[in-house]
Amino acid sequence: MRQAGRYQPEYRALRERYSLLQIALNPALATEVTVRPVEAFGVDAAILFSDIMVPLGPLGIRYEIQEGVGPVVPDPIRTGAQVARLGELDPARDLPMVLEAVERIVARLHGVPLIGFAGAPFTLASYLVEGQPTRQYVATKRLMWSDPATWGALMDVLAETAVRYLTAQIRAGAQAVQLFDSWAGALSPADYRQYVLPATRRIFAGLAELGVPRIYFGVGTGSLLELMQATGADVVGVDWRTPLPEARRRLGPGTALQGNLDPVALLAPWPVLAAAADRILTAMRGDYAFVFNLGHGVLPETDPEQVRRLVAYVHDRGGAA
Ligand code: CP3
Repeated sequence: MRQAGRYQPEYRALRERYSLLQIALNPALATEVTVRPVEAFGVDAAILFSDIMVPLGPLGIRYEIQEGVGPVVPDPIRTGAQVARLGELDPARDLPMVLEAVERIVARLHGVPLIGFAGAPFTLASYLVEGQPTRQYVATKRLMWSDPATWGALMDVLAETAVRYLTAQIRAGAQAVQLFDSWAGALSPADYRQYVLPATRRIFAGLAELGVPRIYFGVGTGSLLELMQATGADVVGVDWRTPLPEARRRLGPGTALQGNLDPVALLAPWPVLAAAADRILTAMRGDYAFVFNLGHGVLPETDPEQVRRLVAYVHDRGGAA
């Protein structure tokens, strides 16, 4: 996630001329930005350059992506009437440029898989209800607890949107999909189970017959791993706070794991970074359902050379990056 981004000089140069959304909604630009990390670093998969907010515009939601802040929604969703007014996503009608980007990227990657993605209902709802990034999720939890019918209706719309959007990306050529629930770790297991699991499970069920790996990602979700597995995802993301062998013990052999290098480790001196990567590779040696990855996106302060060196190091040690 955020494999492309501000740590790359060529991305920063492009961002001087275009906004993030202008890049994401332009097939030629989105293709260049998506393919670049594969060419520069030799990673084993690309992730579509976009943002989790993109499929919400066609539902009638106004939003901006503010630099250094994140998604901002000027009219936050707080009532059942607002949820009832939301439209339905038809990806071919509403976002043909994204599907064209997927086709172009797949053609350019010559077999390196492209991961399509969407935002998960809880994480999207947190932006829609708060109107901006938040630390405490006060408005989100207030809606969830005080008006469960409206909350449930919002979860349903967001789940249906994700199924349609990811299905379209897969049909356009994406070889795997990742559902980003970056902020689900704000919930207790009981609240996750009651208010979020049903809608999230429907997304993975709705994608099952398409036959591509389905990844479910969260940050700070160590206490939710079993529930993340219960969504039906094929791959569960693990962040750096949870040791991978512990995740493996808790989830058993049937679910693939992805993670879990602290992205800040890329700012450490090389021997420290290499030792952190080693610990992961050693712990997961012989585990064939493991994908080496960062526990969250590459930070803007990162030296691209560290990324290149890390990918090469992981490959040398016989794994995948
Ligand atoms: O690697 C890639 O090329 C994929 C690109 C990607 C972006 N956003 C582009 C982006 C992906 C997969 C996302 C998903 C996304 N967007 C998530 C889920 C993953 C995660 O990081 O947790 C979330 C929560 C968002 C919402 C969002 N968009 C945030 C919190 C921010 C950061 C704001 C900032 O400036 O720090 C964004 C902006 C954003 N989306 C950037 C990128 C590359 C930052 C750089 C820019 O503004 O150009």
